[in-house]
Amino acid sequence: MKRAKITIVGAGNVGASCALWAAAKELGDIVLIDIPEFADKTAGKALDLAECAPIERFDCKITGTSDYAHAKDSDVVIITAGIPRKPGMSRDDLVQTNVQIVKAVSEQVAKVAPNSVLIVVSNPLDAMVYTAWKVSGFPTNRVVGQAGCLDIARYRTFIAMELNCSVEDITALLLGGHGDDMVPLPRYTSVAGIPVTQLIPAARLNEIIERAKQGGGEIVKLMGTSAYYAPASGSVQMAEAIIKDKRRILPCAAYCQKEYGVGGYFVGVPCILGKGGVEKVVEVELDAAERKLLDTSVSHVKELVQVAERFLKG
Ligand code: LAC
Repeated sequence: MKRAKITIVGAGNVGASCALWAAAKELGDIVLIDIPEFADKTAGKALDLAECAPIERFDCKITGTSDYAHAKDSDVVIITAGIPRKPGMSRDDLVQTNVQIVKAVSEQVAKVAPNSVLIVVSNPLDAMVYTAWKVSGFPTNRVVGQAGCLDIARYRTFIAMELNCSVEDITALLLGGHGDDMVPLPRYTSVAGIPVTQLIPAARLNEIIERAKQGGGEIVKLMGTSAYYAPASGSVQMAEAIIKDKRRILPCAAYCQKEYGVGGYFVGVPCILGKGGVEKVVEVELDAAERKLLDTSVSHVKELVQVAERFLKG
């Protein structure tokens, strides 16, 4: 059987962590790409990771390079390139710089891996996935953003901490953009089938939701830079669903036209992820309060995309 090929663009903390998770899961051959100034460093990270194989027992070829030719015919390309936020910055502060980086990357990727599925991780996420879609010219199902897997993982982590139970038993749903107005939905959160609202009082659950919404900022404050283990883990969870055609239902930034009445933007929604990328956006019923929260989040995404579009046109 032919091995899958995963290219990761951006060999910084998030990209290198993606390579680590992907290798540990033995998802396929891995190509780690960064700009020519970092070519040696990227090659070094790839070699270092390859040298874990005898211990961790994965068989995959790991290449670190600045040459996009190595990405030829990749099945999945994870785009992590871009500057991360520093304390005091919001994700939106990154748009001007990262739109140019994601544009340059998407142009290269579209040339060498025209049939790949793009998973965009760079921030501000919802605008960067839109940029990658515009520039690559890929169909909407083959461009998807990673945010929900991370946001929901944070939410599940905090619920498990609260209940002192396994995170495995917590399932949850989240909608909206990857901003501080993302929308975790308590009505669609359960613990081994038990609605979370029966286990955690509403006021406390609200505190947990707020912590999940600000989860990225909490890490930036602690570390002085953006998170990377969990963002990478979320990205590789998506890559695995695509490469293995698992058809998992995961919260992703997917293109929504009629869905949720979004009107042609990428926003966080539950999706079926399989070998074609986003196989389907799953629509759930929302009550008036949930609808309002989603509309607020979507309007923020739209504003941000308009800013990105202005920078794209230059
Ligand atoms: C975060 C960044 C990666 O939420 O957006 O940690």
